[in-house]
Amino acid sequence: MLNEWLMRSIALETIETTIRAGQSGGMIQLNDTSTLLAFLKTRKSASAKAMTGPGPTPSQISEILNIAVRAPDHGKLSPWRFILFEGAARAKVGETFRSRWQVLHPEHGADSLNFQAGLFTRAPLVVAVVSTAAQHAKIPVWEQQMSAAAVCFNMELAAQALGFDVQWQTDWVAYDDVAKAAMGIKIAEQVAGLIYIGKSAVPLEDRPRPDVAALTTHWGA
Ligand SMILES: Cc1cc2nc3c(=O)[nH]c(=O)nc-3n(C[C@H](O)[C@H](O)[C@H](O)COP(=O)(O)O)c2cc1C
Repeated sequence: MLNEWLMRSIALETIETTIRAGQSGGMIQLNDTSTLLAFLKTRKSASAKAMTGPGPTPSQISEILNIAVRAPDHGKLSPWRFILFEGAARAKVGETFRSRWQVLHPEHGADSLNFQAGLFTRAPLVVAVVSTAAQHAKIPVWEQQMSAAAVCFNMELAAQALGFDVQWQTDWVAYDDVAKAAMGIKIAEQVAGLIYIGKSAVPLEDRPRPDVAALTTHWGA
């Protein structure tokens, strides 16, 4: 019993030390896909602000979406759907973002309006993951929404495993009814994520990670 506890403590400490060494030294290769564990330990998002092409090919997009839907899903309800924004569609929907932003913030100037219009053109592909969660006899809405979050993250991992950079955003367009309508999203639906997929134009930088020990308690200890 004591032995088992000791072994677990040592293992936890080793993982913590490895992660801290990576953080302080800045030497780790982020999104190291050499092994599954290496990737999970070094996974890092890019910033949509500094993203460029190329984006995934149609067959890679299909692969990414098929991996995304392997997310856990209580009740097998598939309470989510996808909307892809590629090519000219990105700027087209951006025109509604511009006009809506102007209504919401009449004090803002051309730079701000242009930024909103170009939100989706920052990456070659933006995938809206839409939560279609609805009241169900057995599965709480919250669990259906969490499944949509799991889909978002699995989509990120899939795209990163294929060598792309990603960022999960929501931004104001996820919560504004006019912007949602422009994207083809119903008022009753929620935007779980806008997943930007492309290549980072700048080197990725890690950020300090939460202290797992401070977040963890041992029940009964
Ligand atoms: C639901 C959700 C919404 C998010 N929305 C935004 C957003 O609108 N803008 C943003 O800069 N980051 C947003 N983020 C954070 C990024 O996805 C990401 O966590 C951040 O860039 C740090 O990257 P890292 O988690 O890989 O370290 C969101 C994350 C989640 C889970």
